[in-house]
Amino acid sequence: MAETMMETPEAESEAGTTASAGGFGVAVTTAYSDALAEVYDDIYPSTPDLADIGEFLLTLTEPGASVLELGVGTGRVALPLADQGFQVHGVETSEGMLARLAEKDPEGRITPVHGDLTGLDLGRTFDVVLAPFNVLCCAMMIDEQIALVHAVARHASADGHVVIETFDPSDYHVQRKDEITTRPIGTRGAMIESVGVLPASQNMMLHSTLFLDGDAPKSATTVMRYLWPSELDLLAAIARLELVGRYAGWREQPFDGGDSRKMCVSVFRPLA
Ligand SMILES: C[S@@+](CC[C@H](N)C(=O)[O-])C[C@H]1O[C@@H](n2cnc3c(N)ncnc32)[C@H](O)[C@@H]1O
Repeated sequence: MAETMMETPEAESEAGTTASAGGFGVAVTTAYSDALAEVYDDIYPSTPDLADIGEFLLTLTEPGASVLELGVGTGRVALPLADQGFQVHGVETSEGMLARLAEKDPEGRITPVHGDLTGLDLGRTFDVVLAPFNVLCCAMMIDEQIALVHAVARHASADGHVVIETFDPSDYHVQRKDEITTRPIGTRGAMIESVGVLPASQNMMLHSTLFLDGDAPKSATTVMRYLWPSELDLLAAIARLELVGRYAGWREQPFDGGDSRKMCVSVFRPLA
């Protein structure tokens, strides 16, 4: 059974400085994740990159280390980490996603925590706090992102690491027309996704429609906010985290903006 998140008075006061903490933005994200949970692993299948995450973490910490994954989803990242011996807690706001995780993890190797990351306080720290696959960008407003980075920092042990995956938004920032892509969902159907960008607020509107065999089409919409790497460093500094490495992938590829996948893996340490 999923743990329920606790909020300390301190966490409440930090979250209280943010207009949207735990509010509209999280409700939109939750509804979107609930709608896509059933097909999430078909849309985003496990790639070799995911298997590299554990090796990457072992450059920072010891085998068997404790990991807090923010936005654990269906366990696409967490389950391979558990296979590699990490002790993984995973926070998730979507009950649909947690239900998929429970199906894939009957032995309960991942400790699920049902709750909102904004203002999260589990009352303990971890060797690694991991925010993979753009979870920080799931927040639609900067104040929510500030609260998320504070939650990240609060859960990192003094000698631990924070690992945040975002993406280089250069291409999106100059996109002026909605971009439409089609993704197959195994042999069951397809998803059509349109992405529109508001560069002034750095928001991306994602509208997804699922066409599954035998089902009526189902649509879901969410709003994300992309972060420039330099902006992430500023948010991290506000939460007293110091950048110690930045890569274009989990194999420590140099981050020079030239990687076509535009991944941005940033490693931070808490400041003393
Ligand atoms: C892009 S998905 C990544 C899922 C998983 N880490 C993976 O790589 O497959 C982001 C996940 O974070 C969750 N999420 C986003 N904002 C959240 C919040 N404020 N609190 C808790 N979970 C959140 C979403 O519901 C979604 O499942």
